[in-house]
Amino acid sequence: MVVKVNTAGILGIEGRHVICECDVSPGLSRFDVVGLPDTSVKEAQERVRAAMKNSGFDFPFRRVTVNLAPADMKKAGPVYDLAILVGVMACTGQIDTPDDDCCFIGELSLTGEIRQVSGVLPMALALAERGFKKIFLPMGNAEEAAFASNVDIFPVKDVSQLVAHLRREEAIKPIPHRQFVPSRGNYPDFKHVMGQRMAKRAMEIAAAGFHNILLIGPPGSGKSMMAKCLPSILPDMTAEEAMETTKIYSVAGLLSGSEPVVSSRPFRSPHHTVSSVGMAGGGSNPKPGEISLAHNGVLFLDEVPEFDKPTLEALRQPLEDGKITIARVAGTHSFPSRFMLVCAMNPCPCGYYGQPGGRCTCTENAVRRYMSKISGPMMDRIDIHVNVPAVDYKSLASRGTASEESSADILNRVSAAREIQNRRYKSLGIHCNGQLPPSLMADFCTPTAEASKLLQAAFDRMGLTARSYDKLLRIARTIADLDGAKQIDTKHIAEAVQLRALDRANYFSA
Ligand SMILES: Nc1ncnc2c1ncn2[C@@H]1O[C@H](COP(=O)(O)OP(=O)(O)OP(=O)(O)O)[C@@H](O)[C@H]1O
Ligand SMILES: [Mg+2]
Ligand SMILES: [Zn+2]
Repeated sequence: MVVKVNTAGILGIEGRHVICECDVSPGLSRFDVVGLPDTSVKEAQERVRAAMKNSGFDFPFRRVTVNLAPADMKKAGPVYDLAILVGVMACTGQIDTPDDDCCFIGELSLTGEIRQVSGVLPMALALAERGFKKIFLPMGNAEEAAFASNVDIFPVKDVSQLVAHLRREEAIKPIPHRQFVPSRGNYPDFKHVMGQRMAKRAMEIAAAGFHNILLIGPPGSGKSMMAKCLPSILPDMTAEEAMETTKIYSVAGLLSGSEPVVSSRPFRSPHHTVSSVGMAGGGSNPKPGEISLAHNGVLFLDEVPEFDKPTLEALRQPLEDGKITIARVAGTHSFPSRFMLVCAMNPCPCGYYGQPGGRCTCTENAVRRYMSKISGPMMDRIDIHVNVPAVDYKSLASRGTASEESSADILNRVSAAREIQNRRYKSLGIHCNGQLPPSLMADFCTPTAEASKLLQAAFDRMGLTARSYDKLLRIARTIADLDGAKQIDTKHIAEAVQLRALDRANYFSA
């Protein structure tokens, strides 16, 4: 007799319905798993055998064949253990064949406990969409799965409990459904950053227009501190964004029963020793990397010249497309990776180039070489570069007495500017000025006649390229939106020029 049991696997960050077909026939005792399984799936036989035996059931001394369909999808990980066990038990008449609307997901321990697996949220969503009504899965995954609607989630502790339920001896209760409720998150507040007017304003503009930003300054000037404050001035995630980001964390195996959801914008700050795979994602059973874990949030690269070139190169596609495609023999996976990029660096190897007091000990050449490490494709995707000078004594000394503007106040302005952009770009599939392609610049970024003149002067004086010209206009558009202005005016251009520190021809002789 062949028994079919429903289960699911993961492709990229999407769940896929998988059918586990089990056949037990007379013959020599053996156990085969087919259907493109990797080694961890093949090892399921040992876990299933031991889990059954140690839960007090009989494993058949016959020929057991398990086929995981569709056969063209690579099956990885221990997630199919539970479905295989249910199939074998039904084939041998120890339980009835489960109803067609039931699915089983989970890894087995040798003692019969059901262990947490990764990727359960996307699997539950996919199964619910296909009309399945009941999913039996590990307790540790139940909370994340509860976000899937129109399906009952049954958390299962061990094999004995599941069998008791399937034999109608003792029912397992499904857990209550949950809704995605975005939350504010607990991020450091800009009110603790003293002084640094210009850098803070640059962060506000970056947040308002979804522009990538580079902070350049000497050690201890507060670059890292400000980067960490950025999520506090970004609008809340929508329920849809929270769901998308949570799916990525689910596949990466980073959710837990106590934290089953990513409801506030992620802030990822990988160390500069991170590998290309760690950054971009990959591996033989592809997992999302830092750029995807930062999806809908902030990716902060501190000390950016210290990163390996290939690691930075890996950012090119995601910065263009908002996703990363990973090609493998078994197929191509794509992980979403739309994030705000914040980079920080010193202006030179010693860190003090251009600072008053002549502390810098680097040669002109060394400074140039250092700066050139960040040139190229990545710089092309960074709209704003701003100098962050050492904090002056007066600002620091005023800590505790002077009041700096709080993140909540800045967020109000950012949200208003985002609102304007959402309305303007509604039908275009983009949301923010930072995503505005050159083809649409003429439609939305026309400066007044007066502003055009200033722009031309800046262009001539700074020796701008066409690319930086577009960036300048994009930033000016955001500044005008923060100002509630329909058209880009002189003051908007003037401020935008300040946010292109590296375009200024005199940067290296400042
Ligand atoms: N503007 C500021 N207001 C209040 N505290 C500040 C300010 N700037 C720096 N600090 C203090 O100095 C510490 C160091 O700042 P931070 O680590 O952000 O500097 P950095 O610019 O990242 O330096 P590095 O180049 O060495 O990484 C902070 O933890 C903070 O306590
Ligand atoms: Mg730092
Ligand atoms: Zn130096």
